[in-house]
Amino acid sequence: MNKQKSSSVTLGTDSVQADPLAEFNPFPGHDRSVNSSADPEDVRDRAVTTVDQAAHDAADQPVAATGANGSRFVRACLRQPVDRTPVWFLRQAGRYMPEYMAVRKHHSLLDICRTPDIAAEVTITAAERLGVDAAIIFADLLLPLTPMGLDFEFVANEGPQIHTPLRTAEQARALRTDRTADLLYVARAIEKVATYFAARPRTEPRHPAPDTLGIIGFCGAPFTLASYMIEGGSSRNYIETKKLMYASPSDARHPERAARVEAPREISSGRSGPNLSTPPSSDAWSILMDKLITVLTEYAAQQVQAGADVIQVFDSWVGALSPSDYRDYALAPTTRLIRNIQALGVPVIYFGVETSTLLPLMRRTGCDVLGLDWRTPIDRAWRGLDYAVAIQGNLDPITLFAPERVLETRVAEILAAASNRPGHIFNLGHGIVPNTSVDSVLQIVHQIKHY
Ligand code: CP3
Repeated sequence: MNKQKSSSVTLGTDSVQADPLAEFNPFPGHDRSVNSSADPEDVRDRAVTTVDQAAHDAADQPVAATGANGSRFVRACLRQPVDRTPVWFLRQAGRYMPEYMAVRKHHSLLDICRTPDIAAEVTITAAERLGVDAAIIFADLLLPLTPMGLDFEFVANEGPQIHTPLRTAEQARALRTDRTADLLYVARAIEKVATYFAARPRTEPRHPAPDTLGIIGFCGAPFTLASYMIEGGSSRNYIETKKLMYASPSDARHPERAARVEAPREISSGRSGPNLSTPPSSDAWSILMDKLITVLTEYAAQQVQAGADVIQVFDSWVGALSPSDYRDYALAPTTRLIRNIQALGVPVIYFGVETSTLLPLMRRTGCDVLGLDWRTPIDRAWRGLDYAVAIQGNLDPITLFAPERVLETRVAEILAAASNRPGHIFNLGHGIVPNTSVDSVLQIVHQIKHY
């Protein structure tokens, strides 16, 4: 609770007084009148000026008031100059790391996630062992499914399995949005991690200014979480997900759906009534999107209040969508979630895999940072985005299995392609996989610190 931004996230739903994105047109060619080439930064600024005053205050001074400006990682998220490229790794605390496996021997994955002391320890151990610039809280994308009423388990070698997948509007209506306080164990773990690192600013021989590690909270994006809820687990073709999605009115025909920013719920109690800013929807997909946005906004607010400096929104499987489907079914709910999180006063990293054709649309969510997978050259992708967002990425995680020399070349290529432009965060294009050598990960960190 060391952050000033915490005081401003307890907003009642009723406090949204105007449609904050009324001028935002995510769909060029449709009936909104604003210039579609408007810089999303401007769109975001416009959005923020009309939200409730408390949210405005929080969004207006995201990091200066928190001390997070002492983190090169947070500064890079905001495209501010940094002394060197910040680096962290997707899945940096995972099965490749012996320290994690030692904890895993005695605890299930969900036990680790739900026990703040252990989750904090796993998070801190990985960040310190690697010497990275940010610590992502140890949790899982699927945790919010439990308080929403969908039971699941992780089956060894098969991944997550949701016991009763969601296929109907009736099931969507039955999902709970009033038990998000059950997820506060994640916030408790973040508090421990934030307290730990706040007391330990670090210097490096080549970079003597003290730097505080950035704390990353995270949640799933509506499409990716919905895909787990509907398919019942991982999927190849997302047939059930797309069937439900296509059965809903597409958002291109309902652009007002993109134009809402909900104020987060009163997070101290975690209990609240119906979200009055959400117009009623009757199809399963729309109900599901609305409920996910409600729960994920509150979950993100808990994490920010606990000390998360940045929230990463994982849309890992959104690359399954064509640009048209993304525009019509995923863009609006994702935009709403991201705007809600930004109104808490923190930058948002938006990450997906196989997204090269989606990047211009993903940028329209107004995210602060776009996470790239490794298939798109970073210089080309960034130029295509007019340098209007920060970029995170994007080494192929399997390069970590290559000889030292090859790995070094690929890392240097990415750094050269980003050319020290403010707003590059070095990362992989997806998570570290099991059996990766910790030494290879350390080699990258060393190279970046001496670049
Ligand atoms: O340092 C970190 O990044 C670890 C924290 C973390 C976990 N899951 C722990 C975990 C994070 C950020 C996640 C996010 C997550 N979870 C995503 C999005 C990230 C991505 O990879 O795209 C997704 C899709 C999930 C859902 C999930 N969790 C799956 C599909 C699986 C099984 C996959 C596998 O490799 O077995 C998990 C399990 C999981 N979550 C593991 C970890 C470290 C590995 C399993 C274990 O320890 O038993």
